[in-house]
Amino acid sequence: MNKPIFITLEGVDGAGKTTHINFIQDYFLSKNIDFYITREPGGTPLGEKLRTILLYEDMDPLTETLLMFGARYEHIHNIIKPKLNENITVVSDRFTDATYAYQYGGKSVDISTINSLKNLIQKDLEPDLTFLFDLPINISIDRLNKTREKKDKFEGQNIQFHQAVRATYLNLARENKNRFHILDSTKDILMIQKEIKKILDTIFDD
Ligand code: TMP
Repeated sequence: MNKPIFITLEGVDGAGKTTHINFIQDYFLSKNIDFYITREPGGTPLGEKLRTILLYEDMDPLTETLLMFGARYEHIHNIIKPKLNENITVVSDRFTDATYAYQYGGKSVDISTINSLKNLIQKDLEPDLTFLFDLPINISIDRLNKTREKKDKFEGQNIQFHQAVRATYLNLARENKNRFHILDSTKDILMIQKEIKKILDTIFDD
């Protein structure tokens, strides 16, 4: 049996994570692998309440960072760690890389504050594998304009914000090559799925 792993999905808004989560779900079902899909902010009843506040209320960027980590602490201790301990692979739609990309990259929260909060609440937990769905910002904004009737607080930010988020994600990927896989979201969905399958196949061999 494969060891359970912790997979995260990241990317700028509008890069198509949701479509690919459905593909990953079908992959695990077809291989009979125990898995659990979750998301941040969210993933627990309290986390989901915090998500609504975080996505729609204005607040100081530091407050936002603290609430992201508060929701994450609940998520790690009530969901992520217990599932991994039960040999269940966990797939989270966003995790701490998003705090670096959005709160540090997008909103200039001090990186040492984020590092300290990460150490405090995460301890030795790191994703084993991170898919980064990358997309030029003009395309991402175009897609958001076409698909979202009402944008949340992050989706509604200006182009410079989204560019900083994208650049921070790409830096994180360069600095953590062992776990990051960058997927070019301008490509055809089937091509992207082929790449995802290839990567998962190297881990979940038959
Ligand atoms: P989603 O709609 O892709 O699930 O993400 C919700 C929004 O929350 C997205 O715009 C990114 C933002 N976010 C942060 O700003 N910091 C974080 O730590 C996380 C997890 C998400």
